[in-house]
Amino acid sequence: MRTFSDRVLSIQPTGVRKMFDLAGDDVISFGLGEPDFQPPPIAIEAFHQAMLDGRNKYTTTAGLPALRSKIAESWASYQPGMDEHNVCITMSGTNALLNLFLSLVNPGDNVLLPEPYFPLYGPDVSIAGGTAKYYSCLFENEFIPDVEHLESLVDENTVAILYNFPSNPTGGTLDTTQRDGLLEFAKRHDLWIISDEVYDRIVFDEPHVSFMGTGYERVLIVNSFSKTFAMTGWRMGYIASTNVEAMQQIIKMQYYIAACSNDAMQHAILAAMTQASDYPNILANEFKQRCDLIVDRLNAMPGVQCHKPKGAIYVFPKVDVPNMSSHDVAMELLKDGVLCSPGSAFGPSGEGHLRFAYTISQADISRGMDIVEATLLRLQAEA
Ligand SMILES: Cc1ncc(COP(=O)(O)O)c(C=O)c1O
Repeated sequence: MRTFSDRVLSIQPTGVRKMFDLAGDDVISFGLGEPDFQPPPIAIEAFHQAMLDGRNKYTTTAGLPALRSKIAESWASYQPGMDEHNVCITMSGTNALLNLFLSLVNPGDNVLLPEPYFPLYGPDVSIAGGTAKYYSCLFENEFIPDVEHLESLVDENTVAILYNFPSNPTGGTLDTTQRDGLLEFAKRHDLWIISDEVYDRIVFDEPHVSFMGTGYERVLIVNSFSKTFAMTGWRMGYIASTNVEAMQQIIKMQYYIAACSNDAMQHAILAAMTQASDYPNILANEFKQRCDLIVDRLNAMPGVQCHKPKGAIYVFPKVDVPNMSSHDVAMELLKDGVLCSPGSAFGPSGEGHLRFAYTISQADISRGMDIVEATLLRLQAEA
């Protein structure tokens, strides 16, 4: 008797969730990448008001034209002239990613994905019937991929490359020269670029460098309101592209995934983007201070080396404890009261690293870092 599809049997729960499920309530948690803020009050009020006003119905599949136009306008400094036809609202960045792989990939195709990675990418590609091919983003190279390495991976069945900057889990960001190198690589091979830019507004000091506005017609931007407006539970995101033909295909696919996204919430997000447009900057300022704090603490610990990220909400230090894997170290930290993610949960190049999401207060970061320091000193002494 056939039970379940090969598709569902081939995918596993992610390592980040496994650690989270092991942790008790009393740990200091650097585990999940979820901002410890609430959405801007205006969004919550507008959500409530929209429901009272009867906005409880289906919307068009691509979403409310006013919201899509607002999103298009928010990209004007990168790409002027876009309008509602360049945007499809999705039920989260997660939904946007799955839509794109389903819309672009045929069985037998492969997709180039970063490694260490956001753990959904590979399973998404295989759900779409394709094969994931991983390119490394190494500590030694500030987590930026090497174009020669990409050239060694690409073949005639490669249809797309996914870039993710600012990166989860590494915090890596691009400068324009690096971006242009990655863009030229994709152009040389006629690849779709899926650019996951969900942390675009959580950047420190320097403006976000996007693949939007580069003039390449095969760029598809994945974005989300989860992190930038602290509304992970609302499940709202979008896909944007200058390529209207691609958007039409994507919107058709979106109908079969979710029909449309949440009516009242789209009104709430429009209110947030209109009346609390500065909110992501408030978050970014706080995350920058936390980032400085945690990086300084980690770099003062034995066997630890940590780059200072220029965006996102994660640090990904190299943590060297002789004869212990990153999973072993993470388990020891958990016993001592700190939850973080072993780097190996994000792919083989993550081995030897830990990921800390600095999504807790500065006081809790300091308390957590005291524990990490004591644990590492103990483990080094025992090694
Ligand atoms: C790089 C990256 N892309 C996409 C997502 C998905 O975000 P959401 O589904 O909450 O919009 C996340 C969430 O952690 C992420 O880190």
